[in-house]
Amino acid sequence: MTVTGTGQPVNAAQAPTRHPLDPVTEAEFTVGREVMARAGLVRESTRFAYVGLEEPAKQHVLSGPGGTGCERRLRAFLIDLATGRSSDVVVSLDKGEVVSRRDIDCTKEGQLPILEEDFERIDQAVHNDAAWRAAMEKRGLTDMSKIRTCPLTAGSHVFPGEEGRRMVRVLAFVQEDEADLAWAHPVDGVVAYVDIIEGRVLQLVDDVNLAVPVQSGNYDDEKVSGPPRTTLRPIEISQPEGSSLRVDGHRVDWDRWTLRVGFDAREGLVLYQVCYQDGSRQRPIIYRASVPEMVVPYGDPSPTRFFQAYFDSGEFLLGRYANSLELGCDCLGEITYLDATVTDDYGRPRTIANAICLHEEDFGILWKHTDIFNHSAQTRRQRRLVVSFFCTVGNYDYGFYWYFYLDGTIELEIKLTGVIFTSAYPGPGYRYATEVAPGLGGPYHQHLFSARLDMMVDGVPNAVEEVDVEAPPLGPDNPYGNALVRSVTRLKREGEGRRLAAPAKGRFWQVLSTERANSLGQPAAYALVPQVAPTLLADPSSAIYGRAGFATHHLSVTAYDPAQRYSAGDFVNQHPGGGGLPSYVSGDRAIDGTDIVLWHTFGPTHIPRPEDWPVMPVERCGFSLKPMGFFDRNPALDVAPPARHCHEGSP
Ligand code: NI
Repeated sequence: MTVTGTGQPVNAAQAPTRHPLDPVTEAEFTVGREVMARAGLVRESTRFAYVGLEEPAKQHVLSGPGGTGCERRLRAFLIDLATGRSSDVVVSLDKGEVVSRRDIDCTKEGQLPILEEDFERIDQAVHNDAAWRAAMEKRGLTDMSKIRTCPLTAGSHVFPGEEGRRMVRVLAFVQEDEADLAWAHPVDGVVAYVDIIEGRVLQLVDDVNLAVPVQSGNYDDEKVSGPPRTTLRPIEISQPEGSSLRVDGHRVDWDRWTLRVGFDAREGLVLYQVCYQDGSRQRPIIYRASVPEMVVPYGDPSPTRFFQAYFDSGEFLLGRYANSLELGCDCLGEITYLDATVTDDYGRPRTIANAICLHEEDFGILWKHTDIFNHSAQTRRQRRLVVSFFCTVGNYDYGFYWYFYLDGTIELEIKLTGVIFTSAYPGPGYRYATEVAPGLGGPYHQHLFSARLDMMVDGVPNAVEEVDVEAPPLGPDNPYGNALVRSVTRLKREGEGRRLAAPAKGRFWQVLSTERANSLGQPAAYALVPQVAPTLLADPSSAIYGRAGFATHHLSVTAYDPAQRYSAGDFVNQHPGGGGLPSYVSGDRAIDGTDIVLWHTFGPTHIPRPEDWPVMPVERCGFSLKPMGFFDRNPALDVAPPARHCHEGSP
């Protein structure tokens, strides 16, 4: 790679090993920043709210061998802290030039994500505010150095004087000493509305005066946790011949599976070109899979909490907060790690070591049978490839785990852990929170993730069918009342493609090739099997309902458009509403037999338990993609038995 910095085209993308979907390297981020600087877009007061790969369109990647010939581009969101002026820039690394640049109308389109340095600016603004300090003192808090501020995104509640401002709303917690868990001590009834650009409190809401909960939440202190239990002996995972995984750059091969691993500051882990080797055919299943958005709306209507709802991807860029994983702690066994590179507020590359964990693991029984007639007793063990990362966004930690199984199943599992967001519990009968410790509330909330699945089941032309299982009415077709039938509805247009799950009908959605069938004549398909939980529960008139339109359905299907990448739209922070999926489907495009994208909403509605305090045991959510006529039969008959005694033959 050559980095000239002289205005000459840069050959970063032309190195022979680069694939157009490979994540952006440190050198490429540096070059992209130089291109923007040369074009006069970077001043002392300029900050980079996001920089990431501007992916080439799918047809370009698919048309060339190995995706060659695609121009390497970056997209950057720039904000000038002196003025708040924000812009959306695309640069070509190959040509060394700015391809496009436009100002964002922040009032109509939304604000750029929260910067890392915003936290410091906001903290100073709040601590400098005399009215806020007086409100703290009123609550008996005199040592301001113990008060931690917690800025929450402002939403689209535009109160008088807020129009067009880059805002947050700030709650507070008391941290008794450096080791103290501040979330145990929420200061309730006070919220500061802060203009980030001006660095000052615009308005202070001083409502109820509730006692700050005092009980320690220091789960890493033996006084709280108790001494470590001594009942468990070591478990070690041994792979004496090493891992079955092969990693070449960002391409991963494991058993019959092939995929490419990407990473983005906003979306985190991105998987591309997931294929299954079926005999001599390498069969595509997914072109691109990611979780481009999640929203956490809280259900406490009090004057200091009603606005609480965060979009951890679009407002905070959760990929940027990826953890460096530790062997033996986060991952066991033969682990392959990949680093992830993001940018800091100044557009400089920052590499997170060991951000992505790749490994295989035993997963119990794959299939098993002891036959009563031929006496064959056979067992095969399941195994899965795991591609994962973990990030910390404020109080919560989220692990994203993609699984690939020997039988062709794909799963996404999200692990939610960390510390619940707390409040001071007003007293018995409070309807919007659980008392999780003395005087400490855990407000009810939802975690609504949105997966974007750019499907490519046996090729680009795909369609979606909704499948219910139903009992037909009694009559000639069901004379004994026992009949079960599949009710299959083809989703033909985007307007029909916004669906809710129906657990009582066993509803799933199958994505099928409109060109390929199995040997039984059934279309080659993969089924999206949801784990059903409520969609967005907020009232349709609420501000959050308009901004999280993606979360009002479990499934949406759109015609592929490379510009439609984010479930809640490109600019989520303070967006007034209507962005993302509702606007994507407004054209009611055809979705039958064309290039389509599935968007799936899932995740728990969280009624906190005392057991979630002071640190929450992992809560899981996700979905499966199961082959449904994609193969002619169980594709895992040829998995070798784990040991001789596991396949006793018939006598
Ligand atoms: Ni929760």
